[in-house]
Amino acid sequence: MPATPLWSRQLGLTHPIVQAPMAGGATTPELVSAVSASGALGTLAAALLGPSAIARQIADIRTRTDRPFGVNLFVLPSPFPDPEPAVVEQALSWLAPHYATFGLPLPDVHAPGWRWCEDFQAQLEAVAEAAPACVSFTFGIVDRATVARLQARGSLVLGTATTVAEAQAWEAAGADAVTAQGSEAGAHRGTFLQPAERSLIGTLPLVRACVQAVSIPVIAAGGIMDGAGIAAVQALGAQAAQMGTAFLVCDEARIPEPHRLALLAARGGTAATRITRAFSGREARGIVNTYMQAMQPLEARLPPYPILNALTGPLRKAAAEAGDAQYLSLWAGQGVPLARPLPAAQLIERLVAELQQTRERLA
Ligand SMILES: Cc1cc2nc3c(=O)[nH]c(=O)nc-3n(C[C@H](O)[C@H](O)[C@H](O)COP(=O)(O)O)c2cc1C
Repeated sequence: MPATPLWSRQLGLTHPIVQAPMAGGATTPELVSAVSASGALGTLAAALLGPSAIARQIADIRTRTDRPFGVNLFVLPSPFPDPEPAVVEQALSWLAPHYATFGLPLPDVHAPGWRWCEDFQAQLEAVAEAAPACVSFTFGIVDRATVARLQARGSLVLGTATTVAEAQAWEAAGADAVTAQGSEAGAHRGTFLQPAERSLIGTLPLVRACVQAVSIPVIAAGGIMDGAGIAAVQALGAQAAQMGTAFLVCDEARIPEPHRLALLAARGGTAATRITRAFSGREARGIVNTYMQAMQPLEARLPPYPILNALTGPLRKAAAEAGDAQYLSLWAGQGVPLARPLPAAQLIERLVAELQQTRERLA
């Protein structure tokens, strides 16, 4: 099967498939290395990891495979400024009934060691030092000097775009490729230029418009679940398909059991997913549950990421431990009914066979 230029020439990959970074522990070194060893691109989600955990997990992947892989970060202000106390108090009062459901005290934001998020610059240093084959970003954009520094260390730089203007901004910053994230995509929106509600473009028109607007390679993301989906985005001009939800049910992915069960229950049906700010303060797509519905009237007033994300952390952890899917972020894309729980290598084998069959069918 002919590999696309970015993939074959610069990365030496066999298949035009990227396993999406998925923050929260899903992208274990086992998953990333299994994907990369199969000839696709595995990606470690490092957004919620501190610098030493980033270095450790990258080293772990390198003991498992010598194939290229990517590392992904959320672009956040560094240092992250403390929010107004009144904003935190208000959010905690809205969360109080949900914490009470689990008999949990509200989080103490004045406790020693409390932090709103990992420090972005410190994470970036750890990633730059490790120099993985790819470094990708979402939630924002980095400057030309940062892009050039990563490239000088041998990393390709990939940005996330949810609009054509964001793809153009990444091209102007010197990125090697851009991931066009359609509104079907699971979990957080990468939007950084326009309000989220004006950046909800489906994968088909977004990928097509980005391919026409930028000259760097475009990777398509959002709702791609099988080889036919990969062929579809290749027909639009994408050089590769980035898939999250499809890999989330792989044996090597680590997610809370209630999340996994909700994903599996959605198979073959029509799962109701929608975009919500209720868990983290940033728009993200997940399977609708009790907490999402209860918080819906407040959504527009909730504090932004990472403030709300930190404030709901203990609640989500308690829900996961209690096996309760109703208070957990059940991140999933619109393609979740098509998910197949398989070892990553077998999923890639199937994707590649389906891609070939689709090409033959269309020829
Ligand atoms: C559970 C989950 C976590 C995600 N975490 C990240 C992340 O840390 N960084 C990132 O750039 N994208 C993240 N994404 C978005 C993916 O990169 C990608 O855009 C999305 O999965 C594509 O849509 P799909 O889920 O329909 O395949 C996440 C997606 C999921 C499902």
